[in-house]
Amino acid sequence: MTDTATPDVVDVLTADHRDVTVLIGEIWTIRDPMMRRDLTDTAISELVRHAVAEEMYVYPAMRKHLTDGDKAVEHDIEEHKELEQAMKDLEGLEVDSPQFDETLRRLETMLADHVQDEESEQFPELRRAIPHDELVEMAGKVERAKKLAPTRPHPSAPNSELFHKIAGPGVGLVDRLKDLITKRATK
Ligand SMILES: [Fe+2]
Ligand SMILES: [Fe+2]
Repeated sequence: MTDTATPDVVDVLTADHRDVTVLIGEIWTIRDPMMRRDLTDTAISELVRHAVAEEMYVYPAMRKHLTDGDKAVEHDIEEHKELEQAMKDLEGLEVDSPQFDETLRRLETMLADHVQDEESEQFPELRRAIPHDELVEMAGKVERAKKLAPTRPHPSAPNSELFHKIAGPGVGLVDRLKDLITKRATK
């Protein structure tokens, strides 16, 4: 018997939404370029880990169990792509440029929309359609997938070579993180 108080996948994903939203809020308050880059990379890592885990373990369940599940998932994946593009744009912009602020605002607004869709419609439907113990099991899978990529890509310094070496040169942060998670998860 599973205790209904055990966190399920909806609790985990909702906490992720809060964490990334708070991180993005913090970026606005920081002007120091190195700290800003570091925090931005952390927010990107959190959001990529979250989105990849959702696509691997949660969206398939949504397709199966939700009314119009396929349509909802297609819509969500489209939004993930837009979020991903905004994150890639942020990677390439100087953190103290006006374009950076514009792109951060775009990411923040799109994320708020996407979070609203998931939390107000899809997550409650998942809870209605899927038994609690299955949702708890899914929470475990999501947590494991997230652990396959670093929370903070540059723990010591923004120019840390370590992460670049692990992931290979010439590829952006978003793609490196996605690769790390999907390759390790399917091993
Ligand atoms: Fe999502
Ligand atoms: Fe989400």
